[in-house]
Amino acid sequence: MSGESKSKKSVAEQRSEKSLFDRIWTLAYHRGFVFPSAEIYGGIAGIYDLGPLGAKMKNNLIQAWREFFVLKEVNPPVYELDGSTILPYEALKASGHLDSFTDPTVNCLKCKKVMRADHLIEDSLGLYVEGMTPEQLTRIIRENRLVCPECKGDLSDVSVFNLMLGVKVGPAGGQTAFLRPETAQDIFMDFKRVQQSMRAKLPFGIAQIGKSYRNEISPRQGLIRIREFTQMEIEMFIHPKEIGNHPSFYMVKDTKIRILTREQQKRGEKEPLEMTASEFLERNILPNPYMAYYLAKETIFYQSLGIPYEKFHFRHMMPEETPFYSGGNFDLEVELSIGRKEIVGNAYRTNYDLSNHMKKSGKDLSISIDGEKIIPEVVEPSFGVERAIYCILEHCFREDDGRGWTWFQFPPKIAPVKALVLPLVRKEPLTDIAFKTYETLKKNGLEVEYDDRGSVGKRYARGDEIGIPYCVTIDYDTVKANTVTIRDRDSRKQTVVKRDDLVEILFKLICGNIEFNTLL
Ligand code: GAP
Repeated sequence: MSGESKSKKSVAEQRSEKSLFDRIWTLAYHRGFVFPSAEIYGGIAGIYDLGPLGAKMKNNLIQAWREFFVLKEVNPPVYELDGSTILPYEALKASGHLDSFTDPTVNCLKCKKVMRADHLIEDSLGLYVEGMTPEQLTRIIRENRLVCPECKGDLSDVSVFNLMLGVKVGPAGGQTAFLRPETAQDIFMDFKRVQQSMRAKLPFGIAQIGKSYRNEISPRQGLIRIREFTQMEIEMFIHPKEIGNHPSFYMVKDTKIRILTREQQKRGEKEPLEMTASEFLERNILPNPYMAYYLAKETIFYQSLGIPYEKFHFRHMMPEETPFYSGGNFDLEVELSIGRKEIVGNAYRTNYDLSNHMKKSGKDLSISIDGEKIIPEVVEPSFGVERAIYCILEHCFREDDGRGWTWFQFPPKIAPVKALVLPLVRKEPLTDIAFKTYETLKKNGLEVEYDDRGSVGKRYARGDEIGIPYCVTIDYDTVKANTVTIRDRDSRKQTVVKRDDLVEILFKLICGNIEFNTLL
């Protein structure tokens, strides 16, 4: 175990110098979770590449989400779509994004910096200004004599800025199009095709995982507000007369969830109410069992990713934050060192999107049921991948258990690397056996790494630092008795198992079918 605590500065010293966010962000850069995109040319603010570990973690997160919210859903079923990221002008005009997908901006008249007017007011005065008009925001800026936070210059009036990124498709001027600002619109436009091709009956869902683009005015806080990000969205289509009956709600009805209600927010309360999903429904705090179903499932899902139950809740959005057509929006907000951040938006979108696309395209998107034309209602959970990754990094980050280095306590299913294989020393035959063991694990589909550089202690520390749940050491007993030692990241306990059983044991540990303690 020598060498691990020999970093130039102790964990405590580093901690006192940098915020938690900065420490995690620096580690994420250094260990290959995330890099600025096109870094060698200076990059573009708010656009990042996920490095080898970040990419693995994203794939694990997507896989876990697909299994839980799509593949294992029986009633209602959820179909998948892989739609285009480039959408025509007309589609986004119909969806309302061209006219109202905007944020308020203010410019510094001296240094020309452009800022989000609402963020400037919230940061400088602590005032909550969501939903206010540009004129109201300008008045607040003038009355409080707000100036540019960088150069103290005077500020312009507030104006609005559309967040969509435009593209020209084809030669000679081309057709005006936009990069999609949400994955949902493909789903609405393809709704009828999916329904017909799958011979789907209401209720059913359509899910899509993919990139969305928003020209954020001031991208900030690492992966929290970026310009190109990944969404995982489901549009659940429901017969309007059946919105009160979810065929599988009984499976989650007793799940405890936490909601900060509108009444609580009006009273300035911060501690959410806790009740079961069915109790929230009975008290009419939730609009329908479809919304309750998703809030319960999200509560289960995010805990399984390592975000503690008491660190997140749903906030019922206030009327001024909610589109006029909405039957209720509930954001899943996670407490972080940089404040509370929304990572999932849950919206009861009624039949607004389908009706609008019908009107503007002239195409019939209704479904005929018993001779009646039905336009389904929609409940939408919309998940952000990159924000979730940052939340997992922060909530799984550990530095206080005296091991002398920081580490991530990722749940095995989300950990980018599941096991680290290491020879006790870099000598034959240990290295040869260790490499063959590594190859066997890889060929069996396990995400593992091999490391033979430095002391065993240093290698454990490097593994812990990126959250590898298990280390497998090949030592002289392996040569004599064909056994290996598994070290558990969380408890730092070790156990010896037969090398021939290693694949099966690791799979069981990673899937949670056995506890490490039972191997001791
Ligand atoms: N279709 C509904 C929709 O897009 P949203 O609340 O605007 O709703 C859903 O976005 C989720 O997408 C958010 O909860 C967040 O996780 C993610 N998201 C939105 N804008 C983002 C940004 N600029 N950077 C990173 N993630 C973002």
